[in-house]
Parts: sequence; C-alpha cells; structure tokens
Amino acid sequence: MAAFKRNILITGGAGFIGNHVVRLFVNKYPDYRIINLDKLTYAGNLANVSDVACRGNYVFAKCDICDAAAVAELFARYDIDGVIHLAAESHVDRSIHDPMAFARTNVLGTLTLLQAALEHWRGGDMSGKRFYHISTDEVYGALHAEGGFFTEATRYDPHSPYSASKASSDHFVRAFHDTYGMPTLVTNCSNNYGPRQFPEKLIPLFVNNIRRRRPLPVYGRGLNVRDWLYVEDHARAIDLIFHHGHAGETYNIGGHNEMRNIDMVKALIAVTDRLLGRADGEDSGLITYVTDRAGHDLRYAIDASKLERELGWRPQVSIAEGLELTVKWYLDNQQWLDSVTSGEYMNYYEKMYGNR
Ligand code: NAD
Ligand code: DAU
Repeated sequence: MAAFKRNILITGGAGFIGNHVVRLFVNKYPDYRIINLDKLTYAGNLANVSDVACRGNYVFAKCDICDAAAVAELFARYDIDGVIHLAAESHVDRSIHDPMAFARTNVLGTLTLLQAALEHWRGGDMSGKRFYHISTDEVYGALHAEGGFFTEATRYDPHSPYSASKASSDHFVRAFHDTYGMPTLVTNCSNNYGPRQFPEKLIPLFVNNIRRRRPLPVYGRGLNVRDWLYVEDHARAIDLIFHHGHAGETYNIGGHNEMRNIDMVKALIAVTDRLLGRADGEDSGLITYVTDRAGHDLRYAIDASKLERELGWRPQVSIAEGLELTVKWYLDNQQWLDSVTSGEYMNYYEKMYGNR
C-alpha cells in the first residue's frame, strides 16, 4: 500500500456538499488518501463523485456512521488522522415527518464517529489530528425581519428537529474537545447552492419544476430570508479551516447574500427561462403559494468576519454568477435530474462496485 502523507476520512462525500469537498481534496492533495464514507441514503449518489472514483488517492467505503464496529474498522485499516464530517440527514421538511432518523444519524452517528476517533487516537500525540464537524446556521434559531447577524457567540436556539439534532451534535463535538482534549473544529454555515444538490431543496427543486413547467410551491408568502453561499466557496472554506483553523474553535461561514424566498424564486425563473430560450418571465404563473412549513424560521444571516479576519477567507462567487452557473449546470445535466427524480441513481452502487 502506498504511503500517504495523511489519511482523511470524509463522511457524506456522495451528498451535495460532500462531493465538492471530496473532489477538491482528491485533486488538490494527491499525497493525501481520501476515504469517502457514505451510507448512500436517498441523498447519496455515487454519480456525484464518478470523476474521481478511479483516482489512486480515493477510496469509497459504504458504511453507516452509526455502525460502531464498521467505523472502528475503517479507522484502523486506514490509520485515519483527520475527519471531515458531513454525513447527516439534512432536509428540514423530512425532519418534521421523521425526527427519529435525524436523532439517529446526526446525534448518535456523530457520537459514534467521535468515539471511534478517540479510541484510535488516544494514548498518542493528538495535536496533529483533526475532527472537523460541518454544521449549520440553523442551530442559532431565527433572526427578526431586518437587522442583526448570527455570530459565533449567538445563543443556540434551534426550532426544527433537524436543527435540534445538529445543535446536539455540535455540543458533543465541543464536549470531546473540552473533556478529552480532542482537536475539534465546528463550522456553522448558511444555505448552500450549486451543482448536484438533491432536488428536494428550494433551488434544484424549482429549476427542475420550471423546466418541466410544474407548480413552484412557495411556503407562506415567500417572505422568509435565507443567506446563500455557492457550494464551492464552502468547500474552499472547509479546506482552509481544516488546515489552519485553531483546535477547539467555531467559525461561521456565509456569503452575505440575503434574499427573500420570493425574490430567489423570481430570479430562478428569469435565469432558467432565459437559458431555455423562453420569453422573459414566461413561467411566473407557476408560482403557487402553499401552506407554510411548521416552525418556519423567518430569517438567517451570517456574520463571517471571524473567518475573514483570522484566516483570510472570502467568498469568490457572487450570487449572480453562482445562480447562472447553477441553473446552467442543471440544464446541461438534465439526465442527472432525471436519474435522481426517477430513482434510477440508486442502482449506481451495484453498477460500480457489484453487490457487496
Ligand atoms: P446531503 O443530504 O446532500 O448529503 C448527506 C450525505 O450523508 C448523503 O450522501 C448521505 O448518503 C449521507 N448519509 C446520511 N446518513 C448517513 C449515515 N447514517 N451514515 C453515512 N452516511 C450518511 O447533505 P448536504 O446538504 O450535503 O449537507 C452536508 C452537511 O452540511 C450536513 O451535515 C448538513 O447539516 C451541513 N450543512 C448543509 C447546508 C446546506 O445548505 N446544504 C448548510 C450548512 C450545513
Ligand atoms: O441554513 C442552512 C440550511 O439550509 C442547512 O443546514 C440545511 O441542510 C439546508 O437544507 C438548508 O435549509 P433550508 O430549510 O433553509 O433549505 P430549503 O432549500 O429546504 O428551503 C429554503 C427556503 O425555501 C426555506 O425558507 C423554505 C423555502 N421553501 C423550500 C422548499 C423546499 C419553499 O418555499 N418551498 C419549497 O418547496
């Protein structure tokens, strides 16, 4: 087995943000071995990482983060020295219908990973190790309609089962730093958008519906505000923080792109119609106001100045550029949307790796 400078376990690498992080690390660090651990739930799609699957520094492991024995075996087999933990149940609407699945994966799964890392690392010098937990701004609750930002000092106030489960996992990660001296990092990021996002989330769902001329279900009056960040900017932040973040610290990540949902929907219609050669605003009639999401947080907005000041991170992609890139990607990759919406993508693992 070739010797690698580092062995990095990335969990959830077949999901939306994870595939961008895996691609960045595999390409940028040929001397690192990247172990992509993913259970391949409905949100995991190996087609998302097919371009790096044959690379010598990439390994895929189909595994549930709640399976303590399997996770421990991976730590031992690859002598893992860094973890970038993205695997999670991530969709707020699903958490309202099935909160237990979120407690299981997000809380118990994170604790299982922490224990495996501790067992593997304890007794040695832990200073060079890293356990980096990717979390969300939703742990902070909701802001008023205007003014104010979430900072790293904002009190946790989660409202949905999803955000409650992420808050709990954040606390466990910090507890492992404070109790066992594990070098941990936590980041809380705002809404990501970009290629290969599961089309249950607002942007890919609506692009798919516009192309198919289906209704666009806007919750409530569409006045909730989200702070959007292009996914590759998030992946670059994760790379920077993994290598240069201070152990035990928390960093907020956000793009300063606050938009009301209704304005985002109108922007999506404008870009999608233009790229499809349809008349300007032709699909505005698809907007359909529906019953609001239960417990719908009014506004999120991130103050990322700590990350900018201490580590020099800045987002590189403006919202106008990012939306153009994103919509174009979905329209250029309509077979990806079709395979995900038909369920055909779920056969990808057997096609790639056989029935093991
Ligand atoms: P996603 O739903 O697209 O992907 C999640 C991945 O985790 C999938 O590949 C899935 O198969 C895998 N997974 C789920 N349960 C698993 C388990 N028990 N064991 C192993 N793998 C499992 O999610 P995403 O949007 O890419 O989010 C990734 C992380 O970033 C999550 O922790 C999420 O809370 C956080 N986050 C997301 C956003 C966002 O806007 N999408 C913003 C901030 C933080
Ligand atoms: O803020 C970070 C979070 O962003 C992440 O932690 C979550 O994993 C991620 O899913 C996202 O959560 P949101 O709930 O904000 O994303 P979603 O795309 O589901 O919804 C964005 C906004 O659009 C939200 O205010 C609800 C609204 N919405 C969503 C859908 C799916 C609609 O109006 N209609 C819809 O059909």
